Amino acid sequence: MAICHLPLPVGRPAITWTKVERRIKMTNTEKASPLRVIQLTDPHLMADPSGALLGVNTRDSLDAVITLALKDPVTPDLLLATGDLAQDGSEEAYRVFADKLKAFNCPSVWLPGNHDHGPVLRQVIAGTDHGRRQVIAGGWQFIQLDTSVPGKVYGELSAEELEFLSASLSVHPQLPALVNLHHHPVDIGCEWMAEIGLRNREAFWQVIDRFSHVKVVLWGHIHQEFDALRHDVRLLATPSTCIQFKSGARKFSVEEKAPGYRWFDLHRSGDFETGVCRADDFEYDLDCNSTGY
Ligand SMILES: [Fe+2]
Repeated sequence: MAICHLPLPVGRPAITWTKVERRIKMTNTEKASPLRVIQLTDPHLMADPSGALLGVNTRDSLDAVITLALKDPVTPDLLLATGDLAQDGSEEAYRVFADKLKAFNCPSVWLPGNHDHGPVLRQVIAGTDHGRRQVIAGGWQFIQLDTSVPGKVYGELSAEELEFLSASLSVHPQLPALVNLHHHPVDIGCEWMAEIGLRNREAFWQVIDRFSHVKVVLWGHIHQEFDALRHDVRLLATPSTCIQFKSGARKFSVEEKAPGYRWFDLHRSGDFETGVCRADDFEYDLDCNSTGY
């Protein structure tokens, strides 16, 4: 069991990630347990090792979160990185991120956020599995969407992305699906973030609503925990591995909550458990008076 589980309320062809699936099948046979997936989001790494956001060194806070995650005796089978991997869009930041994830010894898939630099990110992960947009593993389907719009803070799904989502869900109707994106596709109750979520969310939900096997929609961007239900779809967001935004805030504001990550235990039946763990012993000096980042 995880060491810090929170109480729980209860158009492109399919790509089967065969190498990973084989490895996960093996691991699961050995462990006779559900697929363990963890989400790390919004690390905002920089080329400069001393790079900080509002006083928080983003490499150090990511290290603290990784150290915490590695203490869990249940080892992850797959890692989801849901955007804003780099603050400065630098090649070095992406390389540092890849290096740090090696500690998990499991595959990871990455998607871009508004702070990322798409061309640089794609160049760094070219030839690796980090760019997989669709993964079949542990009896689930994982779909990674690109909501980034160059030069904009808000997100949008292109017609191609929506078609990719629809096609991926159509081709595996028997598999429970977890859909990942960076921008929030629902109102999260933070007035200042209302304008910087997913703009064309109606089109997104029109696709999702056609498929009853979508179990989870998961995102980053909001730097806070979020947990809600829309029809039968669980809507989840996760603390950043660096600074945290205050939930319910009208204006930009941060709060002194520790950086964290999310874990999932996914059963082949489509049932799952999930929770957030925070690196409470991470020491930092947060600038709480900032009006932006
Ligand atoms: Fe972010």
